[in-house]
Amino acid sequence: MKNSAEQQAAAALRIIARDANMKASVRQSAELYQLLWRAAQRFVTGETLPEALESAQHLAAMGYGLSLEPIGENTEELAACRAAVATFSALIEELGRLSLAETVSLDLSHIGLNLGEELARGHLTELAELARQHGVSLMIGMEESAKTEAILGVYKRTAGRYPNVGVTLQAHLHRSPADLTELMQYPGKIRLVKGAYGEKPEVALPRSEELNRRYLDMAERLLENGHPCSIATHDEALLCEIGRIAGERLPGFAEFEMLYGVRPERLNELRLGGNACRIYLPYGPEWYLYLCHRLAEHPNNIFRALTDIVSPTKREEELYHD
Ligand code: FDA
Repeated sequence: MKNSAEQQAAAALRIIARDANMKASVRQSAELYQLLWRAAQRFVTGETLPEALESAQHLAAMGYGLSLEPIGENTEELAACRAAVATFSALIEELGRLSLAETVSLDLSHIGLNLGEELARGHLTELAELARQHGVSLMIGMEESAKTEAILGVYKRTAGRYPNVGVTLQAHLHRSPADLTELMQYPGKIRLVKGAYGEKPEVALPRSEELNRRYLDMAERLLENGHPCSIATHDEALLCEIGRIAGERLPGFAEFEMLYGVRPERLNELRLGGNACRIYLPYGPEWYLYLCHRLAEHPNNIFRALTDIVSPTKREEELYHD
């Protein structure tokens, strides 16, 4: 559990992430932009699609699976939603051209959920069809709890026709164990995370032993059912326990997935131990929002960011290696 100073810093960073004036100031100041970009590069592969693909090819050649995502969420205008769909389409087509049968991650609010479920469903179907043609999978991210019902509704209406579409489930939500029962009736992969959004106690558990027990219980249910899943956590206790269970019951079946730049040495170790490992690879000009989220999630990263600003990380050659 974080102490109160950390909690306050995390809350402040979330506010900064959403502050349009602050974002504009960062964009307008070449000096500030360069400094923050140095810190962001630990977590973000680049601002452009070619940069993301270069990292993807390098990491895929090492044996990692990948989930690529052009960063973005909460698109409020139709034209911007269509632009987001075009960005995702270009990524899917490039992955197909390079024969990278990888995953594309996306938030439904990035492609229209805030303007209506039908719009998001239509855009998701368009992308799922294109992805199917190119041997690519889609993974829907899970957003704040006010959107859970809508996101799962859109997923369920799409999943029957498109088994290449999966969904993320947040163990911290009280509703999630019941949702898991229902979602396992669909073919898509389930990515299990703890949950990144601050939620009320009526809705979700905070970081705690109880949350870890719930996460473990849900992971065991996925593994026992042989359901396609991704164990998306950096928590050492969970990694050890789930690794042991999977090793005993279904060697090589569990897939471990981590955020690019977070505990790379641990993911390397899991990969060298024969486990399927996936890296979530975000990219794009909205990196500022993503950086603030990563710092808020784990305020110790602020120290790391300061170090990176003075002496920048050498990207994946240093973070991920054999
Ligand atoms: P926890 O937060 O308890 O951290 C455990 C330990 O992991 C920490 O003590 C630290 O050592 C390390 N750690 C965790 N985060 C770190 C960081 N940022 N930097 C450095 N070390 C860190 N959430 C969501 O709500 N919706 C979503 O769609 C997704 N999607 C998603 C995809 C993937 C591939 C991952 C890995 C995670 C997500 N998340 C997410 C985020 C998730 O909900 C959660 O907030 C983070 O994974 C951190 O939680 P942990 O399970 O790692 O445990």
